[in-house]
Amino acid sequence: MPKLTVEGVGQFDVPQGKRLVLALTQDAGIDQLHACGGHARCTTCRVEFIEGEPERMTVAEREVLSARGLTGVRLSCQITCDHDMTVRAISRLEGSGRKDAGSEPAEEIEPPPEWIDKPSSAS
Ligand code: FES
Repeated sequence: MPKLTVEGVGQFDVPQGKRLVLALTQDAGIDQLHACGGHARCTTCRVEFIEGEPERMTVAEREVLSARGLTGVRLSCQITCDHDMTVRAISRLEGSGRKDAGSEPAEEIEPPPEWIDKPSSAS
């Protein structure tokens, strides 16, 4: 089982292949935002990687990060837990002014993932 470490929160065993956004909300139990429901549209599911940043990313993640000019963050709804990771949860409901964290993301990555190597400029 991959281990997910959330800075300042703890370390959690996560089922192999689970979406990171769901591991954050269900296994780590934090108030991670996911305003678009995990569809690679809102970027509120963003996290910063401290260790174990995945080398691959979905085309959808690359496109939305690039469209918004975001660097140094990854979208937890576009990542599966298939190795140990340490992240900083930087986008949470508390203090966001939103009424909720967003609708529950599906178990599988949406849109259906098309994997590419992470561009060096995206981290
Ligand atoms: S981009 Fe909206 S939840 Fe990931």
